[in-house]
Amino acid sequence: MITKIAPSILSADFSVMGETIKKLEACGADLIHCDVMDGSFVEPITFGGQMIKNIRPLTKLPLDAHLMIEHPKTQIKFFAEAGADIITVHYKACKKISDTYLEETLRLIKSYGVKCGAVVNPDVPVENIFPVFPLCDMVLLMSVYPGYGGQKFIPEVMEKIKKARQYATSIGCPDLDIEIDGGVTVQNAKDIRDAGANVLVAGSTVFNSQDWTDVISKLKK
Ligand code: DX5
Ligand code: ZN
Repeated sequence: MITKIAPSILSADFSVMGETIKKLEACGADLIHCDVMDGSFVEPITFGGQMIKNIRPLTKLPLDAHLMIEHPKTQIKFFAEAGADIITVHYKACKKISDTYLEETLRLIKSYGVKCGAVVNPDVPVENIFPVFPLCDMVLLMSVYPGYGGQKFIPEVMEKIKKARQYATSIGCPDLDIEIDGGVTVQNAKDIRDAGANVLVAGSTVFNSQDWTDVISKLKK
């Protein structure tokens, strides 16, 4: 499978976001990963739909909205209307509300013609989201606890990637996008890809480097 790189703008300089988005596209990024944090599901607050709306006209790349928020269903409308191409929501935030909330939220996202995905934290078995795999365009396996960039990749997640790819293949979705978020580096990218992931989020690895084209191409190789 072709590897796609999704730089996370969490690590970008917000004062020059427009230029950053254009530069990421020119440097070979495949998606723009937008980390939405509400100060409740995770400690920090980042941004909402206005950011998506403002960067939408600046790039042809898909905007990947990773919602680290409580009650995600109430916010889907805003992110869909702002121009997100894919919206992912956390299993944990949904499960707190009800057993059916995750599926309802994924269906709501799809009703706007937007791609959808489910996210699991490092301590949640990937099997918990197997029931919604057929509904998902992408599944996102967190390889750090959400909230902050620059953390270390949790190695136990490797096995979950393999399980996710095997299960997706077994249900007739061998090409399902499996995204890994947190602690992705040039050093561990190959193992992550070999385990079966094809979408790699990279925040600090891209933004701490002087040469974005070089680092993006190294993450893909
Ligand atoms: C963490 C965010 C990540 C983060 C990744 O909660 O979801 O997308 O920006 O940053 P790095 O690549 O630095 O681990
Ligand atoms: Zn993220």
